[in-house]
Parts: sequence; structure tokens; C-alpha cells
Amino acid sequence: MALSFKKALVTGGAGFIGSHLTEALAAAGCRVTVLDNLSSGSLANLGAVADAIDFRQGDICDPEAVEEAMRGCEAVFHLAAVVSVPQTVENPVASARVNDLGTVQIFEAARQNGVGSIVFASSSAVYGDDPQLPKTEDLPPRPLSPYAVQKISGEYYARVYFQLYGIHTVSLRFFNVFGPRQDPSSPYSGVISIFMTRAVAGRPATIYGDGSQSRDFVFVSDVVRANLLAAASPAAAGEAINVGSGRSIDIKRLWQQVCRLDARQTPAQYTDPRPGDIHASVADIGKSQAMLGFSPEISFENGLQQTFEWYQRSRQEQTR
Ligand code: NAD
Ligand code: UD1
Repeated sequence: MALSFKKALVTGGAGFIGSHLTEALAAAGCRVTVLDNLSSGSLANLGAVADAIDFRQGDICDPEAVEEAMRGCEAVFHLAAVVSVPQTVENPVASARVNDLGTVQIFEAARQNGVGSIVFASSSAVYGDDPQLPKTEDLPPRPLSPYAVQKISGEYYARVYFQLYGIHTVSLRFFNVFGPRQDPSSPYSGVISIFMTRAVAGRPATIYGDGSQSRDFVFVSDVVRANLLAAASPAAAGEAINVGSGRSIDIKRLWQQVCRLDARQTPAQYTDPRPGDIHASVADIGKSQAMLGFSPEISFENGLQQTFEWYQRSRQEQTR
């Protein structure tokens, strides 16, 4: 994809989605600075582009680190965050420091440095327990967790920075993103990364609640494409836009599908539902099609297969 900018900052670029985005930007000829404190990301994620980018280990709450990383950038992709919903439930203040204060710090440094465009990684979590399905962007937010409150606050900042200062800002409400490199190592990690790791090790998954809760899973390369389109779509300025697949699957069936890839059916273990957990989630993708010209290209089945192969290879490398 041809880019309208030559230098970009990716906050959280050593993370799962950020590292795929960084690779895509570098492949398109963009000079990329990554600002990441490596709290949940890792340098290994950037192994393929290590020599082509400017990596800076630092915190988005540190004004000096942000100022230095932002210098000369024309576009910012702001992905750094405490990404786990339960972690924000357990520690609302620490997560607000990063997700609220860190976010406004990024917007303000962008303004001070004359950055033309900011894409903010928001979340479908902002819809909370609104019963309407699929989720359309005009629904009023009904946050169920500090995480969702923090994401809606970031969206409002994005909108205000467009209205007050004319910066091209877009909030993308990612649904549940999956793919290679999603870190499975904490109980807070994304469900597909945990299920994949359990399946390739022949261990049972833990399902919170009865497993009837559903999610719209979108493959990481599609999310990367949506980010690039958002930075370049004038009509999207000041908007919040869903990035999902438009399909959903429940967690019980998800485990069955993952087991099928591994050709063995390991029964799941069930435990109490998670506080703050959303029951059902699926994106209406009409606005992303209309405003960004975005439609997902990787089917759930294809994405799951690619992801499974990656976790299988990772396990083989670890056990070698
Ligand atoms: P991730 O944990 O892999 O990436 C987040 C990155 O931010 C990590 O590399 C981490 O080290 C870095 N980081 C955290 N706090 C930081 C700080 N204070 N300063 C600098 N860097 C910091 O998570 P991800 O899944 O790649 O998520 C990326 C973004 O997308 C996040 O904003 C997340 O809320 C959002 N999002 C993710 C999903 C999903 O399903 N994965 C869905 C919706 C929204
Ligand atoms: C995820 C993202 C969040 C994002 C949101 C968008 C992560 C860690 N969280 O939150 O950043 O904003 O999507 O929709 O990437 N589950 C189990 N067993 C497990 C793990 C999870 O049953 O071992 C269940 C959970 O209870 C939940 C579902 O699977 O119902 C999805 O959980 P999770 O992957 O943590 O995602 P979200 O909470 O939706």
C-alpha cells in the first residue's frame, strides 16, 4: 500500500499488533520509530525489522521519551496500553496512568510536533453490555471495565484533537485480534493464544463461565491494513470505526475448533465467569467499508490455521 507519510511513530510497536504494523510500515518504505517499555511486548517480535527501525525503550508517560521519539514523525499509530481487561479491573489506577494519561501525552506531543495524523487503538470493549448485535458505532458506550472507560476516553481525546487542532485522528475499535506472536504467557492473554498453547501441549483449556460468550475474531494482518487505511482516509477524521470480521463464535466452539486443528479433542475445564466480561460481541462492518474501504481478507478458518502453525513451530523450537 502506498503511504502518504515517510516517517511514523508506533507506540507499543514491540507488542503483538504493533510489531506486525511496524513490519508493514517498514516494508512500504516508511522510516519507523517504535516507543515501547517492553512491559508486555518483546524485542523478539521486531527481530525481522530490527536493523530497519529506530527502537526506543521508554514509557509513553515520560514526556521526554515521547518528545524525542515523536521528532520528525508525520504519522503516529498509538497502540501502547495495558491491554488486559481483568488487569484494569484489578488495578484501575495503574492502568489509567498508561491508558488515560499516557494517551493524552501522545496526543499533546503530536500536536506540539506538528504531526498530521494519529490512529488510536480503541476497542470493541466500549460497547460493554449493550444488547444490540451487531455493534454499530452510533451506540452509546456502556463500559463494563476500567479498560473500556479508558478506551472511550482516548476516543474522546482523538475527536477533540481533530475538532480543536485539525489533526487527522481516527479511533479504530478493534474487536478480538488474533494471529502469530500474540503472547500467551499470562492468564490475562488473548483467548486464542492461550487455547493454541494448551492445544499444542495436549493440555485442557480453562473456560470462564459456561463458554456461551462469543467474540468477533479478526486476523492481525487485516487490522494492520485497517490502520494504514485509517491514516490515509480523509473522511475518517474524528471518527470511531469498528475493525472486526462481522462474524462471531462462542468460546466453547472456539476450543473445539482449535482441538480439531490438533487432531485431538481434549475436554475443557470450566470455572467461574470473569468479572467485567462481555457476553456477546460482533461488529457491524458497514462504516469501515464505507469510510476506509476496508473489508477483512483473511477468513477465520484460514487465520486460525496460520496461527496454529505458528504456535506449533514455536513449541517445536522451545522443546528442541
Ligand atoms: P500487546 O500487549 O502485545 O502490545 C501492547 C504494547 O504496549 C506492548 O509491547 C507493551 O510493552 C507496550 N506498552 C504497554 N505499556 C506501555 C507504556 N506505558 N509505555 C510504552 N509502551 C507500553 O497488545 P496488543 O494486543 O498488540 O494491543 C495493542 C493495542 O490494541 C492496545 O492498545 C490494545 O488495547 C488494543 N486492542 C487490542 C485488541 C486485541 O484483541 N489484541 C483488541 C482491541 C484493542
Ligand atoms: C480482548 C483484548 C482486549 C480488547 C478486547 C476487544 C487481550 C488480552 N484482550 O478482551 O485488549 O480490547 O478483546 O474485544 O487481548 N476466556 C476463557 N478462557 C481463557 C481466556 C479467555 O474462557 O483462558 C474467555 C474470556 O472469559 C472471554 C473470552 O474468552 O469471555 C475472550 O477473552 P480475552 O481473549 O481475554 O478477550 P477480551 O476480554 O474480549
